[in-house]
Amino acid sequence: MSDLKSQINPGKVPKHIAIIMDGNGRWAKQKGMPRVLGHRSGVKSVREVTEAAAQIGVKYLTLYAFSTENWNRPPAEVTALMSLLVETIKGEIRDLNKNGVRLMAIGDIEALPPSTLKTLREGIEKTKDNDRVTLVLALNYSAKWEILCATRRLAEQVKMGALQPFEISEAIFEHELSTHGIPDPELLIRTSGEARLSNFLLWQVAYTELYFTPVFWPDFDRKELFKAILSYQNRERRFGMISEQLP
Ligand code: IPE
Ligand code: IPE
Ligand code: MG
Repeated sequence: MSDLKSQINPGKVPKHIAIIMDGNGRWAKQKGMPRVLGHRSGVKSVREVTEAAAQIGVKYLTLYAFSTENWNRPPAEVTALMSLLVETIKGEIRDLNKNGVRLMAIGDIEALPPSTLKTLREGIEKTKDNDRVTLVLALNYSAKWEILCATRRLAEQVKMGALQPFEISEAIFEHELSTHGIPDPELLIRTSGEARLSNFLLWQVAYTELYFTPVFWPDFDRKELFKAILSYQNRERRFGMISEQLP
């Protein structure tokens, strides 16, 4: 493991890693356990990956924790996920502060159950001065929703005469996204063998390196994170150019 870590080039660590944490249910099923225990085990991975990311100098870690589509799951699972979120945030605040982790959220959080929203807001408030790493939780998140919200806000500005349509640039559009101020992820990881984006950060991953692993999220540890980063570091990001043009 320390061997994997030593292979990482500290000068080329992604500033921002986004993760679609998938496979909790299948992990539990494989072990003959209820799905909820898979989600509980997934919290351990969140902890380990956040700490490992902070240690190697990742500045932003965005975790897909609950999609807008996830409301369609059996109600008992949704309730269990919301309780787990409350319990986890409450239980982790001390360690987040100890490790310099700032908590943030993206998504339609106003529509979360009041107790979840309250705890989330407390977590954000209590960690707001930390600056080692920012942990962005995507909660009730949908990329299409986010893009529509941005579009509506810009349309309002145009309607009021504060903005001309030709002035809408990538920078102006990005300013209206919930991730404004955060650099786009250089690396997106999805666990559990699925190879889809599931409505996650569609605008922001326009030029992101994608890494898919069959490992279920509860089994994803620091070693797996380092493997993903090494895979990223072995790729050539050409940005439309040819190899010979790169520095
Ligand atoms: C990801 O694991 C966690 C959430 C979506 C909240 P899943 O619950 O989707 O696990 P699988 O895909 O059913 O195995
Ligand atoms: C995506 O996982 C959302 C999260 C990880 C929170 P899902 O397991 O819900 O995704 P799909 O619906 O199978 O693509
Ligand atoms: Mg899944």
